[in-house]
Formats: sequence, structure tokens, C-alpha cells
Amino acid sequence: MEETFAVKLEKKRYLPDPRCRAAARVPDYPRAYREFMRDPEGFWDRVARELVWFKPWDQVREWNYPYAKWFVNGQLNITASCLDRHAAGDRKDKPAIIWRGEGGEEERVFTYDGLRREVMRFANGLKLLGVGKGDRVCIYMPLVPEQVVAMLACARIGAVHSVVFGGFGPDALATRINDAAAKVLITADVAYRRGKTVPLREIALEALARTPCVERVVVLRREHPKVDLDPDREVDYADLMAAAAPSSPAEAMDAEDPLFILYTSGSTGAPKGIVHTCGGYAVGAYYTTKCVFDIKESDVYWCTADPGWITGHSYVVYGPLAVGTTVVIVEGAPDHPDPGACWRQVRDLGVTVFYTAPTAIRMFMRYGDRWPAKYDLSTLRVLGSVGEPLNPEAFEWYYHRIGGGRCPIVDTWWQTETGMHMATTMIGEAMKPGFVGKAVPGAVVDVVDRTGRPVPPGTGGFLVVREPWPAMLRGVHGNDERYRAYWNTIPGCYTAGDLAVKDEDGYIMVLGRADDLIVVAGHNIGTAEVESALVSHDAVAEAAVIGKPDPLKGNAIKAFVTLRAGVIPDDGLSGELARHVKKSLGPVAVPAEIEYVDRLPKTRSGKIMRRVLRARELGMDPGDISTLEE
Ligand code: PRX
Repeated sequence: MEETFAVKLEKKRYLPDPRCRAAARVPDYPRAYREFMRDPEGFWDRVARELVWFKPWDQVREWNYPYAKWFVNGQLNITASCLDRHAAGDRKDKPAIIWRGEGGEEERVFTYDGLRREVMRFANGLKLLGVGKGDRVCIYMPLVPEQVVAMLACARIGAVHSVVFGGFGPDALATRINDAAAKVLITADVAYRRGKTVPLREIALEALARTPCVERVVVLRREHPKVDLDPDREVDYADLMAAAAPSSPAEAMDAEDPLFILYTSGSTGAPKGIVHTCGGYAVGAYYTTKCVFDIKESDVYWCTADPGWITGHSYVVYGPLAVGTTVVIVEGAPDHPDPGACWRQVRDLGVTVFYTAPTAIRMFMRYGDRWPAKYDLSTLRVLGSVGEPLNPEAFEWYYHRIGGGRCPIVDTWWQTETGMHMATTMIGEAMKPGFVGKAVPGAVVDVVDRTGRPVPPGTGGFLVVREPWPAMLRGVHGNDERYRAYWNTIPGCYTAGDLAVKDEDGYIMVLGRADDLIVVAGHNIGTAEVESALVSHDAVAEAAVIGKPDPLKGNAIKAFVTLRAGVIPDDGLSGELARHVKKSLGPVAVPAEIEYVDRLPKTRSGKIMRRVLRARELGMDPGDISTLEE
């Protein structure tokens, strides 16, 4: 997208129940925002004081464009805020995690005290394997409590975790392990999904053939009889726990030490290892969980994301546990064994705050009103959405059919890079379907043109953040140039890579990506990774992939492929290519459609012009094509 452009805006708005506003943690958003703007450092200083620190900071923020430090010289361990302080106080016996297997038959509950003990033991287990402060540990696990325990155990001893979503294939896993140079991999024999087993360990072993950095592998064995392990390299999760000492003090970490690396798709080349640090990230995730979701002591909170994504890091693990709420975790598909499965869990567990993705909402919408209508959902009081635009139809359905016209919807815009919510409609403010809302207190979000000037209402532009914020990425692992690119594309701004528009009231609507990323079912997919998987097939000469609007998934992947000389496309080839991509990258990256073409449109310098393919596909004007080859 070259320039700014006009957008027609919806006018509909919903006024929240005044009672929610009065009771909210931030009862007066405009005032809270003004207070933040008047003294940003004072604002974050007050928030940070609500967490446990081993040593206070000398300075709230040090901004050396584009490098920021937060809570300079402060020392903490995020697990002291997430576990120890609750376990030592009134929340000792409060459920921290209620885990349910797919379908809800199996349940495991960990109190704050119980979770702390699990984490400490596993932290010692990691030490037995030689893991120490600063070492990278890759976690490739299903959505089970042990996944959360593994993350927190790394944090406990200062090891840096890199969680890879269990839906990724061996190539995607190997790339990420090698980039982070992970020393230990934690996995499980299987994940359960739609009544079937996904052989995680087998996939991991395939990846491990290409990852010389990995010394040891911890395997959680769930199946009976138990799968055999290779004693030279693998160790059973339970055996490791049994061998480990029970108590483990929380390592004192500098606020700017890395807490984790999480990979996100880049618009070109390999995925980017986004680095988040111990101090600022903790403060940002804590504040937004508490205030955007308005968490109260009695809440039962369910975020359906997997910790393999940033949403799971900030809003399944670190934020909610720092706040001390009860977190529901459910493994498997939310519509299995039937389309009411998700709503049955809400009823049975008395869920009060529910956070999911538009793709899931649209899927439930398709199944029809009768499924949620079967269950009493009256415990719900706050609904959240994340990952892609929540279109007005889906908003309406979510608001009326799930929220009973009673619950505010917080449509939260943010990214792996931002670490925390950046824009939403805070509880108590008028909601506008299709709009995420305004910047959260603590963030300065704007829509601008290429020079960084704000665009007028109704004109589309680039979504940016103007000031550093505590949970911002501190780097791209091993690639400073890619980090700097976030800050030097538009002068003075962090460029998010999204297109957006504001209305007269300053509400932001996110229109989609401005670059070569495709958001499929809320997952960020890089065109480059899919293309290189396609090209790795013998039949393929070149490939270009684009996103195509899809009623359910937001976007679907369409691939344009040129074949090697002599290869004739037949019915079987598309299926084979799809399987090839699935095997390499996992099901999330599989093209929904493959079209065979003789040539791909390219610039004279040889770059594929996906924009031209996309315009042709959607019957739109391709824009400036002066650089096109012919
Ligand atoms: O395009 C935006 C979209 O998801 C991108 C970030 O993806 P990721 O780093 O994987 O994190 C997803 C979960 C935070 C953004 O650049 N996106 C995220 N939230 C929204 C959204 N688009 C519209 N509305 C949202 N609420």
C-alpha cells in the first residue's frame, strides 16, 4: 500500500451498562489516559510497584532511540510475582490453573501453592540437565499444565524459553531451535486433538536430526504403554521431577535480562526471534491483564490461546498469574466432540472472563445459535477478542449470543512484538463494532502517513506506536538490523506493519497487514516461509503466496506456482504439495488453493510482486506497476 486512502466507516455504537463502568478497575478511561500522558514514567512507576522486586530500579525508562531500557538496574524474578507472593498469602489454596482435556472428561487443578512447588521442582530438574541462567530452552508441547510449568521453571532459573507452537512441523521447529541455539528441548509424546493423537515427539525427533545444539530432550509421556526413550539423549519428565530437589529460590534477574524469545513470521526471510525482557514485560502484561480484562478476585478466566503464541505467554501464563486469578486451560479443539463443547466448559467452570479469536467466533456463529443457547452462560461478564479484525457481524453475534447483550467486548490490538495490549475499548467506554478502540493507558498509538504525520479521520494509514512502552520487544535475536527496521521505517515511530483508520472520536479500526504477512485464523504466516517450503518440492520451480479473504479464517493462503520443466500438473499434485507444506511447516501454513501459472509477476530486479497477484485475484487495481518486468 503506497499512500493513504479513504475508508467508509460504520457508525453503530453500543453503550455499556453503567454498572460495569462504575465497578471497573479503570472507571474513567479518559482521565486515566490523561494522567498517563501527563507523566508516563510516573504512571509506569506506580504500576511496577505492584509487583515483587528484589531490588528497586534507579530510573523508570532510558530511551536511546531505538533502544529502550525499563526499570534500569531493578532486579526481579517474574515467578516471585506469579507464584511466591500468592502462595505465601491468601491465594495459597486458590486454583491457579484448572486444566481440562479435550471434551472435558479429564481435569487437573493446581493451586498457587501446588503450581509453585511443581515449578520449583522442574526448575531443579532443568539444572540437573545443565541448564543455567541465559541458556535457551525450546518448549514444544501440547496445551497441558506441564507446558506452563516448563515456561515458569525456565523463568525461575533465568533460562530463556522459546516456545514453539505444537502445530508446527519439523522444519519450522528446527529453524527456530537452531536460531535460538537451544540447549534443551522439552516435548511430549503426543498432543490430543479432535480425538486423535498428534505425534509431537516423532516430529521433534525429525527436527533434532538437524539441530546439533540440543544436548538433552525432556519427554512428557502421556500414552500407555509408554514410548521407549533414547537413554543417551532423552529423559522422562516424571523421572526428572522425581530426581530433582523440591525447593528452588527465584534467581535474581536484571530487569533487562531476556525472559523469552518467541518467533514471529517476518515478511521476508526466516522467522524473527522476538526478545522480551524480565522487567518491562512483566509490568506490561500484568497491568493490561488486570485493567483491560478488569480482573477481580472471584473471576474465573479463560483465554483459549496456546502458549505457543504471544497471547498464551502474556494472557494465559504471565499476566493472569501475576494478577493471581484462576486460569482455565483446555486442550484440544473448542468444537470437539460437539459444537457446544466450549460453552459447556464455560457453564461447568463458571467462567467469567473469556478471551478468544475472531476465527473461533465465526466458527461458532456458523454452527448456529442453538449451541450456546443450550448452556447457561450467565457467569460471563467480560468478553475479549484478539488476533485479527473482529468484523461487525461477528461482534454482534458475540455480544448478543454469548454475552447476552450484557458483557463488554474488549477487542484488543497488539502483537508478538508489543508483548501487551496496545489498543482496545476499555470497559465502560462506548463500543463500536469493527473498531478496536483507542490506545490503552500506557501506550501512544496513532495512524499516520509515511512521514509520520497523523492522517485525518476516515483516511487510512499506517498503525504506529509513538513512544516506547515497557513490554516492547528489545530486539530480534541475533539480528539488530531487523530490530531497527521496526523503528526506522516511519520517522520517530514504531511501525506495526498494519493498516488502520481512525474515526472522528479517535477510535481505531485495523484494516489488515501492510506487508507480506498473512493473518490466517489469527496466526501470522510469512509468505517467505510458505514459498520456500513449496519450492523445496521437486516439482516446483517458483512460488508466490498471497492472502485471500476467507469468511471463516479471515484470510486463506493462495499459492501461485510455476513448475519445473516437464512437470505436468494433475489432480494429485496439489494434494501432494499441500501435504508437503504441512509436513514441513505444519497445518497452519497449508495453502487452501494452488494455481499453476507459467510465470510470476516480478520487478525488474527480480522480486516477486505479490501485490499484483493479489489485485488480480481480488479484481482490484494493482496500483503502481511501473517496476513490473514487462
Ligand atoms: O495484523 C495484526 C493482527 O495480528 C498481528 C499480530 O500478530 P501476532 O504477532 O501473531 O500476535 C497476535 C496476537 C496479539 C497484528 O499486526 N491483530 C492482532 N490483534 C488484532 C489484529 N488485527 C485486528 N484486530 C485485532 N484485535
